[in-house]
Amino acid sequence: MRGNDGIVLGIETSCDETAAACVARGRDMLSSVVSSQIEVHRKFGGVVPEIASRRHVEAIIPVIDQALAEAGVALTEVDAVAVTYGPGLVGALLVGLAAAKGLAFAAGIPLVCVNHIEGHIYANFLAHTRLDPPVLCLTVSGGHTELVAMHGHGQYEVLGRTRDDAAGEAFDKVARVMGLPYPGGPALERLAQSGDPGAVVFPRAHVEGRPLDFSFSGLKTAVVNYIHTSEQKGLRIDYPDVAAGFQRAVVDELTSRIEPAVHATGIRKLAVSGGVAANGALRSAMDGLAAKLEIELFYPPLSLCTDNAAMIASAGYYGLAAGRVSGLDANAVPGARLEDAQAEGYGSLP
Ligand code: KG4
Ligand code: ZN
Repeated sequence: MRGNDGIVLGIETSCDETAAACVARGRDMLSSVVSSQIEVHRKFGGVVPEIASRRHVEAIIPVIDQALAEAGVALTEVDAVAVTYGPGLVGALLVGLAAAKGLAFAAGIPLVCVNHIEGHIYANFLAHTRLDPPVLCLTVSGGHTELVAMHGHGQYEVLGRTRDDAAGEAFDKVARVMGLPYPGGPALERLAQSGDPGAVVFPRAHVEGRPLDFSFSGLKTAVVNYIHTSEQKGLRIDYPDVAAGFQRAVVDELTSRIEPAVHATGIRKLAVSGGVAANGALRSAMDGLAAKLEIELFYPPLSLCTDNAAMIASAGYYGLAAGRVSGLDANAVPGARLEDAQAEGYGSLP
């Protein structure tokens, strides 16, 4: 570290947000700039990878400049650059990585590659400055659904993960079938508010032999089949009821894995993060569960639930503190797994 401020510039381009942020000592957010491409992708009903990459190229430098300006920090005052190396869209990831490498090389400061899921976990450390491991982390987003026991900074034991679709992906796909705009999660939640979650009951998944794993593709198919069958029979479909029934099934599946995880690990703190953590029904179900189990529950504010670079900078600070410095040959790893964070994507030491 150059100075005592431990300022990390974070860069995130794994999907459809171009983001940069400055964070001091891993916990103090000096700036967080997010340029969203949602409007661009909406007309296609989902993220178009090639368009995402091109938009990142256009936005990355202005977004980084803005993050430095809003923090009142010159590049010479930055101690390290942290960047998402995966999982994500390869072309999108490469834009952030190239920018991060260029800045680290030009400024002569370390580059730290961060796993995107690790970033989502650190959104809670950024938001709750007294939170420390061990903590159970449930990360639910458009690309991932992972239940992790975090034993120390950078030490992850994956207890369960989805076998197929991520929770947010299921929201997006079901919303699309219902004719709702992309991204489907917030639109489906709004629709569900006027529905009865008990009117249409969808199946809950159980993964044989892996009780803490998740599965959402059967649920998605059940909703799609329900809609198609009703249409074929000419039955009236109450979309708010369908949305509420689907949302209840997702929330049940996510909450049902928590109590066994608490018992298996003895960890009594739970940090929920990722885009789906913005969901009000999930939050209130988790609140009730935490009260029942007498565990502490943490969420980031809504602005830190969805993709941002402040969470990457925070994770990068702790990675750097643990000596995780990447070489300038670091590459994007589209399928990076959290438990491989130490082994993959870091390149050789400089
Ligand atoms: O974390 P995120 O911004 O990107 C990924 O890393 O995937 O999460 C985006 C996902 C999308 O699938 C979106 O539909 C979902 O989070 N999402 C929600 C809500 N807000 C965002 N899902 C359910 N309810 C919400 N309120
Ligand atoms: Zn994400």
